[in-house]
Amino acid sequence: MEKLKITGGRRLAGRVKIGGSKNAALPALAASLLTGEKVELDNLPRVRDVRTMLRVLEQLGARVEAGEHGSAAVQADGFASFEAPYDLVKTMRASVLVLGPLLARHGRARVSLPGGCAIGERPINLHLDGLERMGAEIKLEHGYVEARADRLRGATVAFPSKTVGATENLMMAATLARGTTVLQNAAKEPEVVYLAELLGAMGASIEGAGTDEIVVEGRDTLGGASHRVIPDRIEAGTYLVAGAIVGDGIELEDARLDQMEAIIDQLRRVGVVVEPTEAGLRVARPEQLTSQDLRTAPHPGFPTDMQAQYMALMTQATGTAVIAETIFEHRFMHVGELLRMGADVRIDGHTAVVVGPARLTGAQVMATDLRASACLVLAALVADGVTVIDRVYHLDRGYEPMERKLRELGASVERIR
Ligand code: EPZ
Repeated sequence: MEKLKITGGRRLAGRVKIGGSKNAALPALAASLLTGEKVELDNLPRVRDVRTMLRVLEQLGARVEAGEHGSAAVQADGFASFEAPYDLVKTMRASVLVLGPLLARHGRARVSLPGGCAIGERPINLHLDGLERMGAEIKLEHGYVEARADRLRGATVAFPSKTVGATENLMMAATLARGTTVLQNAAKEPEVVYLAELLGAMGASIEGAGTDEIVVEGRDTLGGASHRVIPDRIEAGTYLVAGAIVGDGIELEDARLDQMEAIIDQLRRVGVVVEPTEAGLRVARPEQLTSQDLRTAPHPGFPTDMQAQYMALMTQATGTAVIAETIFEHRFMHVGELLRMGADVRIDGHTAVVVGPARLTGAQVMATDLRASACLVLAALVADGVTVIDRVYHLDRGYEPMERKLRELGASVERIR
């Protein structure tokens, strides 16, 4: 099993290129199932989840051409299957995003239920309820969602709580439904807006993406498109925290301030210097980091996908920070490992209290999920001595090789077996 070996205490400086967004790329790839024409995506991140989604599409019968520099062309002009199998879905729950497009285009889909996840139960009831409101017949059997519909029809779906995945799945399904679909209390994440832009380029009629209400006029067919995936605001946020903890001036090429306001506002409250540059953003560590409380929330609030990285920062800040995780029930798996490195963190239900600054020391630690892994990498960069992070396959799911990018900034990081 691959591990990362990090020797802490080095100051980082230079420029890092931010890759395409994983959470924008996955629904965009699923959207290619809505048309028989070619969909070309550029700036796809070189991460395992993207490779898994391409395998799901190939498994369904779509033709996939992987190009240079993170581009790929997908053409779903023939279908070998309507099934997203357990073996693939269990490795990446976002595979469930093929459900809406398959049902809308072919009136049939068989998708493995994703099952539990380290960070929470993560049911898909809101996806299924919405598709049923659009006229789908849905059965859950043998661990699979069996869905059928002659043709989906437009409907009004009011989400009881914000959900990125169900907003994306239903928005895609609605593009080929008969009539008008209104998604109320919709998610407003930049990845949702990006998906609406891609679908618009494919000929869909969508209004209101990025607001609480999205209106989709169904079309009989959609066409192909060429599109560039937006930069990854969570990867960028992770490198901003690296710069805040051990940075002597790091420039993040392609990072977009307009996607990251809540992250940047919070870091500035802590005392971190973040400035826009021509290429993107620049970050530097201040003399002193000041502890600040945090509450995760749906966009435009502070993203839950940055909570673990923020906790690593708070271990180095002066004072006490109360971190409230409001989106996922079990998203403090990184705390046990931070304690092994000498951090002072106490959990009380969905709240963690971090007292700093703590002198972290290198240790053998275990990654448990994607963002928890990033938190451990950040802690290891400032810790005394050597940290070995096991199970880095979690990290590879959503980050382009971190050891390469960090080494270019001057860190001592290597991948070992
Ligand atoms: C997306 O997950 C992201 N994944 C997650 O990023 C991110 O944490 C999450 O949105 C929230 O921002 C991708 O885009 C691929 P949700 P998703 O539906 O769509 C509950 C990462 O680290 N819920 O917005 O699965 C759910 O359990 C990943 O990159 C239901 O109860 O998230 C959660 O508590 C992790 N029923 C909350 O809503 C449903 O049918 C928000 O989930 C759907 C969701």
